[in-house]
Amino acid sequence: MTVGPSGANSDVANFYNGSGKVRVAGKIRDRWGGNLHNGYWHDEDDDASPEVATDRLTDLMIERLAPQAGQRVLDIGCGIGKPAARLLRGHPVDVVGITISESQVAQARAGAAEAGLADRATFEYADAQQMPFPDDSFDAAWALESMFHIPDRNRALAETARVLRPKSRLVIADFVLRGPISEDGLQAVQRICETFGVHTIGPLDDYLAQLASHGFTGPDVLDISDNVARTGNLLADAWEDVRGQLEENGNSDHVDALITATRDFSNTPEFGYVLVSTTLG
Ligand SMILES: C[S@@+](CC[C@H](N)C(=O)[O-])C[C@H]1O[C@@H](n2cnc3c(N)ncnc32)[C@H](O)[C@@H]1O
Repeated sequence: MTVGPSGANSDVANFYNGSGKVRVAGKIRDRWGGNLHNGYWHDEDDDASPEVATDRLTDLMIERLAPQAGQRVLDIGCGIGKPAARLLRGHPVDVVGITISESQVAQARAGAAEAGLADRATFEYADAQQMPFPDDSFDAAWALESMFHIPDRNRALAETARVLRPKSRLVIADFVLRGPISEDGLQAVQRICETFGVHTIGPLDDYLAQLASHGFTGPDVLDISDNVARTGNLLADAWEDVRGQLEENGNSDHVDALITATRDFSNTPEFGYVLVSTTLG
């Protein structure tokens, strides 16, 4: 079962360019930091800030990617480049990040230049479903909360396999649907899909089958649903704090919808979250 709208992904670009129904881009950056992904908390007593917890998730990705010196790493859906910068600071690799938001490309390039990483970091506007790279261009890749946005995930995985060299690692952080799905759960999932431009979400088994069909082997799955679950409520609290700014560009119904769908991330058990690490060939 796959839930969510299908077709073009211009809604995703609008969301990240800050030109959607509610202009969210950058509004909570001082509080959330530059990572556009979930936080990771060890347990209920862990009171790490979102900034620390989101860096932890990046660190889990880095650990599972196990990058080797000199590798060229593809960052599929790079956001504003904060995860790439963290990878680059700790490892002597080069990163090429792609995103379908022009605004993010500009921010990621500026951030890398400011951090003195521009010689090892390249950010480009590109769609993961049709990558502008020759075959066998990269030694490793990750997709940190980007695959769910992509209308044709199967095509994006085919493209990923094409541009990776044999034996490359691929690490994915993504949402999956967990059954059984209640009527309330289904409605919440649909609210999330509509509000956040989630085009593809389904059961883990479908995901693994798609990966296998493109030659990715030995998948290792880490279910961290409980560790990231706090993110939705914390993010919704942050939206509440900037409600005034959000309402300057969108009407209050749209802001209410954003906040409700954000809390749904925390309160919908059907919405699971996994890290999948695999190797090509
Ligand atoms: C939730 S953000 C995650 C950003 C970044 N990985 C991070 O963790 O900070 C999703 C990212 O996926 C990108 N994205 C969505 N659809 C894409 C597509 N079809 N091709 C490339 N990037 C895409 C978005 O532009 C955005 O940068």
